Amino acid sequence: MLELRILKSDDWPLWRELRLAALAEAPYAFGSTLAQWQGPGDREERWRARLSIPGAHDLVALLDGLPVGMASGVPGEGAETVELISMWVNPTARGKGVGDCLIQAVERWAAERGATTLRLSVMPDNHTATALYERRGFTDTGEPGDLLPDGVGRERVMAKSLAAA
Ligand SMILES: CC(C)(COP(=O)(O)OP(=O)(O)OC[C@H]1O[C@@H](n2cnc3c(N)ncnc32)[C@H](O)[C@@H]1OP(=O)(O)O)[C@@H](O)C(=O)NCCC(=O)NCCS
Repeated sequence: MLELRILKSDDWPLWRELRLAALAEAPYAFGSTLAQWQGPGDREERWRARLSIPGAHDLVALLDGLPVGMASGVPGEGAETVELISMWVNPTARGKGVGDCLIQAVERWAAERGATTLRLSVMPDNHTATALYERRGFTDTGEPGDLLPDGVGRERVMAKSLAAA
């Protein structure tokens, strides 16, 4: 059974567990690195702050009671835009619709708060995630995303109109 849980800042140990697993397992997918969140970067108040972004919606997916995935919706530029970030599903739980369910939940929440556009950034060579986003109706905006560590490439910015959902 697949369930979603909305996290509050007191749930930071669960978010920490999943986020550290995500950064270790899929370093190619994220702008943040494991090193930034380990050692001196691994502090309760920092995790609490991450789960206290005003107007954000932080979700964990539980498959048969076990936490296997995560995603957040955070306010974007302007009241009408929400950003989908921190998307990850444990490899043992992939291909079962967990990613789909997380995206759908963020879409629903974003529409309910009056947003008309859901945006995200994805690494240009992350074909698995891009395929999932395209299947859910996201298209390339053509806008230049954040610069990659190589100083040349850029993240791909995708968006979906929620009004048409
Ligand atoms: C990208 C990612 C989140 C997808 O998660 P997921 O839970 O496997 O996603 P889904 O199961 O919803 O969809 C993946 C595939 O499973 C298929 N699928 C969906 N529901 C299914 C179900 N009930 N049963 C079987 N397969 C299913 C989908 O058709 C999809 O296949 P396709 O994209 O090849 O057509 C996951 O691969 C991941 O965490 N990757 C590393 C981190 C990452 O890239 N994050 C994104 C940062 S932008």
